[in-house]
Amino acid sequence: MDHIVIGNWKMNGLRDSASELMALEAGLQAAPASCGVMICPPATLIADFATRTAAGPVMIGAQDCHWSDSGAHTGDLSAPMLKEAGATAAIVGHSERRADHGETSAIVRAKAESALAHGLTAIICIGETEAERDAGQTIAVLSDQLAESVPDGARASTVIVAYEPVWAIGTGRTPTLDQIAEVHGHVHKALGLRFGDEGKAMRLLYGGSVKPANAADIFGVAHVHGGLVGGASLKAQDFEAIIRAIPS
Ligand code: PGA
Repeated sequence: MDHIVIGNWKMNGLRDSASELMALEAGLQAAPASCGVMICPPATLIADFATRTAAGPVMIGAQDCHWSDSGAHTGDLSAPMLKEAGATAAIVGHSERRADHGETSAIVRAKAESALAHGLTAIICIGETEAERDAGQTIAVLSDQLAESVPDGARASTVIVAYEPVWAIGTGRTPTLDQIAEVHGHVHKALGLRFGDEGKAMRLLYGGSVKPANAADIFGVAHVHGGLVGGASLKAQDFEAIIRAIPS
């Protein structure tokens, strides 16, 4: 199964930060052939970056998409718009959107359905809060998010699930490798039960404070097929080191 490393730039990046992308592209020549690389810049940069990376190995994704194709949704962007701009994927259900915008798993599922309907890969995020982990609810919470956020008919070629513990995002803290293995093993099993071979073949990413120092260990855990990387993806050197940590 091909691994993938996805950089989530969040609300960072003006056109000049494209220099980071340029530096990254140079480094990508050395990336393992089996590793896909994607950058999800702010939507304002998607078209520009898609043009710049057209001939190279870097894919460009969006950080969100609306569930409708068009209509009275001030400020939102639809899957067809993002696709037209050059995105090949959309992150949906990131915990920052679940928290900041009140997105429920039902909304996340509708967004994923729209992304898939328009030929975008859906990168569906799930993750427990620290309080939920402390209360021993991690697997229950993730099971519910997974069941409710992943659309029926999901296929391995177009759905990626990202496990991002909320308490690990941007904090420098990460779960132990055993904790990551437990969650990824559970998600793999749950997807297999629901989607059969397609579910078993779906890629599962870990996200939350991935950095050069921990990437190789995390990527070596069973059923971890790469990473969703926030802060470190804004630094070409760190992002490149994380890509190089993918097992060849
Ligand atoms: P982080 O963010 O790598 O900065 O922790 C990950 C994410 O939110 O996708």
